[in-house]
Amino acid sequence: MSQTFLSLQNIEKRFGSVRAVDGLSLDIRQNEFFALLGASGSGKTTLLRLLAGFETPTGGSILLGGKDISRVPPNLRQINLMFQSYALFPHMTVFQNIAYGLEMERAGRAEIRRRVGEMLEIIQLPHLAKRKPDQLSGGQRQRVALGRALVKRPHLLLLDEPLGALDKKLRGDMQLELKRIQHEFGITFIVVTHDQEEALVMADRVAILKDGKLLQCASPHDIYEHPNSRYAADFIGVMNFLPGILQRDGVRALDGSLIQAGRPAGARDGDKVVVAVRPERLHIGARKDGNGLKGRVVAMAYQGLDLQLHLKSDLSPDPVLVRLTAHDAESNPLSEGDEVSLGWAARDTRIFMA
Ligand SMILES: Nc1ncnc2c1ncn2[C@@H]1O[C@H](COP(=O)(O)OP(=O)(O)OP(=O)(O)O)[C@@H](O)[C@H]1O
Ligand SMILES: [Mg+2]
Repeated sequence: MSQTFLSLQNIEKRFGSVRAVDGLSLDIRQNEFFALLGASGSGKTTLLRLLAGFETPTGGSILLGGKDISRVPPNLRQINLMFQSYALFPHMTVFQNIAYGLEMERAGRAEIRRRVGEMLEIIQLPHLAKRKPDQLSGGQRQRVALGRALVKRPHLLLLDEPLGALDKKLRGDMQLELKRIQHEFGITFIVVTHDQEEALVMADRVAILKDGKLLQCASPHDIYEHPNSRYAADFIGVMNFLPGILQRDGVRALDGSLIQAGRPAGARDGDKVVVAVRPERLHIGARKDGNGLKGRVVAMAYQGLDLQLHLKSDLSPDPVLVRLTAHDAESNPLSEGDEVSLGWAARDTRIFMA
């Protein structure tokens, strides 16, 4: 594992009475693709602005390569921020847009031509160098903005909702593109996104922010499979929550049945808890080991690769969601109104304080 490159130590940023970032500590490694996730107002942009030097922390320190940069001005940090609403210069060509930062640095003409040429290859737009932004598609514009941010070879590139303006298909393509470019350049990326699927696809590690605090930081797999709180479980992907009361031998569910589950750290018998299970972990048919529930199909949504069922069950006030693969759906034909028994493995059961 490579060493710590960027270290945030107990960072705090207050705007009057608002704690936009509230005692956040985090280490980011060299060449890491790091994603920041969080609801609107959770402090994502503020954190990037602190890293870029556009804001000064009201507490804590930021170390880059071991040096405290908390009070170093933005232009001396070798950190580049691609803003939430990036804007290309409309009157300049693609080439000129990318060259702009180098011209500000007073690089020589030959060097500018060489570096912009290389960058155009990387973003795969050499044939469009002479176009103006309004003659480009959304994805092409996004790539130019990326080229403009990368050409100065920052040590760290901060991207605030870089794919926010794109439609779903283009987003998917650009997610892979971003990963490729990051890999090719070996630059550390910190990407803010609203879209949790996007974070899971692109990042080496994902952090969830809530009210300016770090809630969880882990690999995409761990954050999806082992969320550390009900909030994180709800925030990432889809989760069924079955409320109950913790007992010595399991969880007493709403219908009086007993669900086998572990226990949250520090929980005591009699505490209110929720058992959590992902829709894709529920399978048709009762199980001998593990857990089960019965329900009535109230809605079905065909989603191409899979079929989503909504069940009314005595175990939960909300509909229980089930995701069946096309194969499972075909071997168990179901219609609305059908009663169905489902099972899931003990190892797929999570439990949180309610
Ligand atoms: N300059 C400022 N003055 C006062 N409050 C601010 C300022 N900038 C941000 N805030 C507040 O700090 C909190 C965090 O804002 P921030 O922009 O970091 O959120 P965000 O996670 O980027 O949200 P979004 O997903 O909507 O972009 C919010 O409550 C916001 O209103
Ligand atoms: Mg923001």
